[in-house]
Amino acid sequence: MRIDVVTLFPDFIRDSAALGVVGRAQERGLLSVHGWNPRDYATDNYRRVDDRPFGGGPGMVMLAEPLSACLAAARAADPAPARVIYLSPQGERLTQAKVRELAARPRLILLCGRYEGLDERFIAREVDEELSIGDYVLSGGELAAAVVIDAVGRLQEGALNHADSAVQDSFEDGLLDCPHFTRSDLAGTEGVPPVLLSGDHAAIARWRRQQSLGRTWLRRPDLLARVTLGKADRALLEAFIAQWRAGPGAGP
Ligand SMILES: C[S@@+](CC[C@H](N)C(=O)[O-])C[C@H]1O[C@@H](n2cnc3c(N)ncnc32)[C@H](O)[C@@H]1O
Repeated sequence: MRIDVVTLFPDFIRDSAALGVVGRAQERGLLSVHGWNPRDYATDNYRRVDDRPFGGGPGMVMLAEPLSACLAAARAADPAPARVIYLSPQGERLTQAKVRELAARPRLILLCGRYEGLDERFIAREVDEELSIGDYVLSGGELAAAVVIDAVGRLQEGALNHADSAVQDSFEDGLLDCPHFTRSDLAGTEGVPPVLLSGDHAAIARWRRQQSLGRTWLRRPDLLARVTLGKADRALLEAFIAQWRAGPGAGP
């Protein structure tokens, strides 16, 4: 998969995409991330990329012309069809389902705004969709682009060392992930649910599923309301809730 990012800070995108799982995905040739700076496509002596808004008021707006020229160069760099996404607080909220959809595409071009954002006519002409990473305002789209690149990059086949780990992550099946424990030289196995030390794989899978259901019930009932539970899941959740209501220490 190829991701091009139109940004005034291509170094930030390059550096963040060189780390961890995404960096490894690039090394493995599963993903390539490229930065494009609209300033390189500005035509005036000052390499201006912004100007004051029509109608007055505070802030500056990113100029359409350098953005258009920069986007055209990014598009032309590869023949694969690209989905053009503007990271914007006004966009559709990013979810894991959306991340899965984007991860299956051959190519994305991400547009990062600065100042008050992009000229609206450029958005109307060039942008396929707008995506927000949450209901708060960042000073630029780069962090949001890095979030998209990370979430999409880790889903490229072969990016994760354990492919199964993405499947059990939060939101994949509409639920939150179960809690995880590992070896501790200081605490030994104290505080670790005994079932995880039992070696009984069926019991461990059942416990994990129950924790996943229970955590979602406790922390994100809105998610639980959207999934249809089978009989076995309902029984697990009912047992979790009963133990939870019985008080601390009684939980599964
Ligand atoms: C200061 S913001 C502009 C906010 C804009 N005036 C508004 O209120 O909708 C500058 C840029 O940061 C990015 N940005 C800010 N918040 C974001 C969010 N929640 N999700 C994605 N991008 C965001 C966008 O690219 C935006 O153009």
